[in-house]
Amino acid sequence: MPQKHLNIKAPPVFIFEPPDRSKKENTIMSTLVIVGAQWGDEAKGKIVDVLGNQASYVVRYSGGNNAGHTVITGGKTFKFHLLPAGILHTNTLSILAGGMAICPKALLEEIDRTRELQADLGALKISPAAHVVFPYHRLVDQLEEAARGDNKIGTTSRGIGPMYTDKVQRIGIRMGEFVNPEIFRERLHQVLEFKNRLISLLGGEPVKFEDLYDEYCGYAERLKPFVSDTESVLQEAVRRGDRVLFEGAQGTFLDLDHGTYPYVTSSHPTAGGACLGTGIGPRDIHNALGVCKAYATRVGEGPFPTEQDNEIGHQIREQGHEYGTTTGRPRRCGWLDLVALRHSARLNSLSGLIITRLDTLVNVMELNVCTSYDLGNGPVDYLPATTDEWSRIQPQYQTLPGWSEDISGAKSWDDLPINVQNYVRFIEEYTGTPAAILSIGPDRDQTIILRPDLIWA
Ligand code: IMP
Repeated sequence: MPQKHLNIKAPPVFIFEPPDRSKKENTIMSTLVIVGAQWGDEAKGKIVDVLGNQASYVVRYSGGNNAGHTVITGGKTFKFHLLPAGILHTNTLSILAGGMAICPKALLEEIDRTRELQADLGALKISPAAHVVFPYHRLVDQLEEAARGDNKIGTTSRGIGPMYTDKVQRIGIRMGEFVNPEIFRERLHQVLEFKNRLISLLGGEPVKFEDLYDEYCGYAERLKPFVSDTESVLQEAVRRGDRVLFEGAQGTFLDLDHGTYPYVTSSHPTAGGACLGTGIGPRDIHNALGVCKAYATRVGEGPFPTEQDNEIGHQIREQGHEYGTTTGRPRRCGWLDLVALRHSARLNSLSGLIITRLDTLVNVMELNVCTSYDLGNGPVDYLPATTDEWSRIQPQYQTLPGWSEDISGAKSWDDLPINVQNYVRFIEEYTGTPAAILSIGPDRDQTIILRPDLIWA
């Protein structure tokens, strides 16, 4: 039997032309992540304020009002917990992205407080995908910490951990649902019943539905005008080559995956978190700068190998006013840990460092920097993964000479004493990462930009 010919046309041949990689003119490098390179409180707020007016968008991508950023400008002190520090620039759109944990009450108080100090603020947008922090989250945070006893994490008690737990458990309420009263009512009904069982189990007083609903509907009404899609806005901005600055909160070693687990926060402050939290793909993050203090601090519990619970630690705390912006807790202070900082540089693909608080070290005449760890069987220069190993670390130090000059008025690299310059050079060399900016005081003006080319690639 003659074979029937099926009339199938061959598919068109697809000719793949590899892009000409020698062409540079179409490469738009306009996005920058500012990430905390240590345990948080590295003065990211000041840096974002300084760089914010060069950006069209400033975006918070993780965490909530567990963060605390201080910005001092024009004789006024602004304390931010949720608003991106870019809000102070009228030509900037500030975005609270989907990876965030947003307490509506705290956000509205912060908006009102900021407006009182400065009438003209930049515009604000909140992602409908961001999760909402409710009073039951704060209550659970406190009850769980109390139940942990000696093993407490030392959280900020802002309900952030319990909110992210709800997110993972798929019972969280997102901003987009919160600002629709009907959907909010339904969702809150389902969730609160569940949460109240947990609260009773932990020995707390159950939360009343109507009180919570009525109060929070008021907040939702005020926040509704700010809530609309932020992912496509940012994706379009990146396509156009607009400058987008991603403002990290907390710090690398508080990252849920990369920090000193379990003494960590429950989100992703590392540069990778900027992708997860905003919907921007990894190839669209062009640059990352890590903010680190010239020494180290930590708040809350957890491993801190270079901690100086002694006269030196006390001196640094007092000279640097090292008390938490969010909780007022005294911060634990210690020497700069270069083993950790180098790991942070690699983890965040840092193109440069922003070294802050150099002025605080005045009159600490012998500066130790940790260059390796001893876990009991010889020196290692990598980060261990378990708290047991962290607790066994004996930091090995190199000592560098300090300085007694007041450097807070320096305007350039050449104004800095040689010992400051050598300290910075040592950090650059050990971490393999150049210093892009130095900060020598809390004011915008007390900033020395060393490598503008490392800021916007
Ligand atoms: P949480 O984020 O409130 O759950 O707290 C978990 C840990 O992260 C605690 O050790 C806090 O002190 C710490 N932490 C949270 N936010 C910050 C911050 O912005 N700076 C420094 N430490 C923080």
